[in-house]
Amino acid sequence: MSNDELLRKAVAARARAYSPYSKFAVGAALLCADGEVFLGCNVENASYGLTICAERNAVFAAVAAGRRDFAMLALSVSGAGTPCGACRQVLNEFAPRLPILLGDEDGKLRGEVSLDQLLPNAFGPGSL
Ligand code: THU
Repeated sequence: MSNDELLRKAVAARARAYSPYSKFAVGAALLCADGEVFLGCNVENASYGLTICAERNAVFAAVAAGRRDFAMLALSVSGAGTPCGACRQVLNEFAPRLPILLGDEDGKLRGEVSLDQLLPNAFGPGSL
């Protein structure tokens, strides 16, 4: 799967975001080692703190489907932001050096980072 294809999937995931409170829609497309792609969008709630981010929804969908080997994550965010701290920690559990494509709302690539750049000296399974 090309980077552009993965970014397009992130755009499609973003279209499904439920974000009536923040109006900030996020889409994530998580490519697994076997080629399968799992999508996530942010899902907000009237009880604001129950909101779940796009990235964690994608990770949890993949794990629930039996995948833990992740090759790449593509995001679609207005202005192309990076994952929040909580999502960095959850991603680190399975793929500490995961490449992350930072895409905008149109799926245009605005940057690429590795998870360990975003979360250096991470606490993870090996820390226990
Ligand atoms: N959000 C994500 O989905 N991923 C991030 O990495 C940052 C924040 C969502 C949560 C909330 O629904 C909205 O964006 C504004 O914070």
